[in-house]
Amino acid sequence: MAYRFALSDVRYLTAAAGAEALAATDGLPLTDATLLADLTRVRAVAGERAAAVVETVRLRRRAAGKLGPAAAAWLFTDEALQQATPGPVAAHRAARLAGVGVHDLTCSIGADLAALAAPGAAGGLVVGSDLDPVRVLMARHNLAQGMNGAERPPRVFVADALTRTTRGLLGYADPARREGGRRITSAATVPSVDELDAAHAGRPPVLRVPPGIDYDALARPGEVELVSLDGVAREAVLWPAELAGPARRATVLRSDGPGEALTSDDPDDVPVGPPGEYLIDPDPAVVRAHLVRHWAARHGLWLLDPHLAYLTGPAVPPGVRGFRILDHAPYRERTVAQWARRDGVGTLEIKQRGTPVVPDELRRRLRPALTGPTRQAATLVIARIGRRPDAFWCRAVEPAPVPPAPPAPPAGR
Ligand SMILES: C[S@@+](CC[C@H](N)C(=O)[O-])C[C@H]1O[C@@H](n2cnc3c(N)ncnc32)[C@H](O)[C@@H]1O
Repeated sequence: MAYRFALSDVRYLTAAAGAEALAATDGLPLTDATLLADLTRVRAVAGERAAAVVETVRLRRRAAGKLGPAAAAWLFTDEALQQATPGPVAAHRAARLAGVGVHDLTCSIGADLAALAAPGAAGGLVVGSDLDPVRVLMARHNLAQGMNGAERPPRVFVADALTRTTRGLLGYADPARREGGRRITSAATVPSVDELDAAHAGRPPVLRVPPGIDYDALARPGEVELVSLDGVAREAVLWPAELAGPARRATVLRSDGPGEALTSDDPDDVPVGPPGEYLIDPDPAVVRAHLVRHWAARHGLWLLDPHLAYLTGPAVPPGVRGFRILDHAPYRERTVAQWARRDGVGTLEIKQRGTPVVPDELRRRLRPALTGPTRQAATLVIARIGRRPDAFWCRAVEPAPVPPAPPAPPAGR
């Protein structure tokens, strides 16, 4: 179970004695195998705070990939780290808020807030608050570390997001996600979208909500932006009318290069046609923003079926994992097993859309046909085309590098 930090733990960790204990612990392996022995050593310097010190060092190691090197000096709780917005996603939002004074109403340990306060980001006044005093104390420490080189850390205080505690600042809330429930609606977060909107009715806030939210049902005026990072949908952002662009936007971020953005105003005139050389599964941000046609039009692809998100065409767009179609037939297990035997396949990836096929169960049934070496891999895509499921026997093609973004035009053009 995750360690529960008390306010006294945070005070200790941010004082000189805590900093010394953290530095001494940083060199220890802290693996499951060594933890008991490591704890004994840490107790010699940190006494009853040893568990808080060890947990902090372990969380900092986990945070590096998500929040970047500055997180090496941050404080977290396990849940707050899981909830923290990944660095590139937070930086993208901060860029959209450039020049706007912002109050982060649910700032937690400050991942979003640090991006908003970074020099050259929001530019306007930025403050943060949260209901949880432990997280507020951690956020004060984290922001004082000058993540991204911020000079003056923003003010952070304890407050309920459902009360008005600042004036003249645009609210931003990243409410906690409520577990359970199949349909992701307004009530999927704590506080809910409706509660936040009611509390800030005079100036609707920017809201970060789960990417699977039924945003059509919310019918909130403004823009919905779906954001993915490295092929994983991370968030839906509900932009209020004052900052909205087109009705829907997909932002595809990549940690290793330029991403891609498209909106519901882009051209979407694409034909439906027979399979081309490749089958392409668009990024989840594009799918969830209902911009599959728009993306297909941009990349010269076409639809296999008007109701299906799989696309096809003569080439795979850069940065995207596609599938070279080797065979194609109405879906039957027997046919698929024949393909697998013919090609001596040992590893089979199965993807499906719009059919009742359960990939893990199908793979189990196909096991007798998967007798080739593990390195001999194939991808089976099963998709409902018209009224029947079709099978596409494919070889996955790793993403081609994305060309660098062209330099921005000089201001004033
Ligand atoms: C998903 S986390 C925010 C993460 C943050 N954006 C970040 O990047 O680190 C949600 C936060 O909302 C806070 N919260 C929940 N209900 C609240 C309320 N009524 N008022 C203020 N904060 C609240 C929780 O304590 C939690 O820290």
